[in-house]
Amino acid sequence: MSAWPEHALAAAGHPDPYPYYRTLAEDGWRRDEQLGLWLAASRRAVDAVLGSPVCRVRPVREPVPAGIAGSPLGEAFGRWLRMSEGDAHARLRTAVGEGLAALPCDEAELTARRLARAFLMTGAVDGRRLDALVDFLPVATLASLLGWPEAALAEAAEAIARVCRALAADADAAARERGAEACRTLLADLAVLSTDGWLRRWREAFSEWDGASLNANLLGILFQSRDAGAGLLSAGIAWCCQGEWDHADPAEWRARLRQDPVLHHTRRFVAANATLAGQTLRAGDQVLVLLAAAARDPAGPAETMDFGRGRHACPGEALALATARGALHALEQNRPDWRALGGGIRFSGPPNVRMRRFGAGERA
Ligand code: HEM
Repeated sequence: MSAWPEHALAAAGHPDPYPYYRTLAEDGWRRDEQLGLWLAASRRAVDAVLGSPVCRVRPVREPVPAGIAGSPLGEAFGRWLRMSEGDAHARLRTAVGEGLAALPCDEAELTARRLARAFLMTGAVDGRRLDALVDFLPVATLASLLGWPEAALAEAAEAIARVCRALAADADAAARERGAEACRTLLADLAVLSTDGWLRRWREAFSEWDGASLNANLLGILFQSRDAGAGLLSAGIAWCCQGEWDHADPAEWRARLRQDPVLHHTRRFVAANATLAGQTLRAGDQVLVLLAAAARDPAGPAETMDFGRGRHACPGEALALATARGALHALEQNRPDWRALGGGIRFSGPPNVRMRRFGAGERA
């Protein structure tokens, strides 16, 4: 592994990308011709992009990626809060926000704890099992809270993983087909969940939309929780491997996430010519928004950027942290050999997530 990441899209998987990010943050903006991207790296540049109405989450001419347009996955994607802008976004954000806020974090934490405990009871805790826990728990916790039957949680987590793979930049036709099939199954499962409990509150929050929008957005939050939630939990576990830390304290999470962020970047598509933080951008440009570089920018206010900023900032932060806390509590009760588990950590995951893998060196 070289001392410097090959490029910004490879930085989240580098053992120490922070000197590289620092030089980018000092420049503020940089153009990467090979990637065909603008890199926004200083806190000032990142804030300007995330705050600008001309910087959109999707290209104007391609609201749904061409590879999935017309499929059930494309239809759901087009209804997601995350992929919408303007008035539709503001109204969906209120509904999703109300849905998420209706859940007490204690309940999420206890659910994560219970599911992690049951998961860990089925075998010795080695690196590969930790990886499996990290892949399973964020989606399983959310699905369980929505009323998914316990016996079907592993299947739901795997189906969401297939949706994530279908939406990856390097997905091929087979991955997209598997994702579309998984989406069909998940939407059918969502349609028959009992309307008691937390799901009832979602239905109330979505009363001005049809059932398809509600179910698409429930699928959307399960999708959002998957990779970022796994990265967050893997970071929490890695920090346990380094020594005791107070994972019940949100301030401690924030401080650690600023030093070593999990969610390294997001993207924006420029809809009209604009000048932002001193940089001229043209309609059609793409910007890689380097949240991890901005969090460490010495000229910035020393805050974590892991959950984003501005109108698309993460509404799932409290829930994600409660889930990770519950899992770490259950793991600690298992008294694993932290030192051994921390010995073989590698970084491998989607380009925007700093995902720790604990079992990469273990034999199957
Ligand atoms: C229960 C787990 C989670 C849920 C339900 C969730 C949900 C969401 C949703 C719905 C959005 C879109 C908001 C909008 O467009 O208005 C979003 C954005 C975001 N989330 Fe989360 N999220 C979760 C976990 C996480 C975690 C663990 C991280 C970081 C480690 C994270 C980081 C972000 C970021 C950076 C954005 C903004 C992306 C952008 O501006 O392009 N999320 N999340």
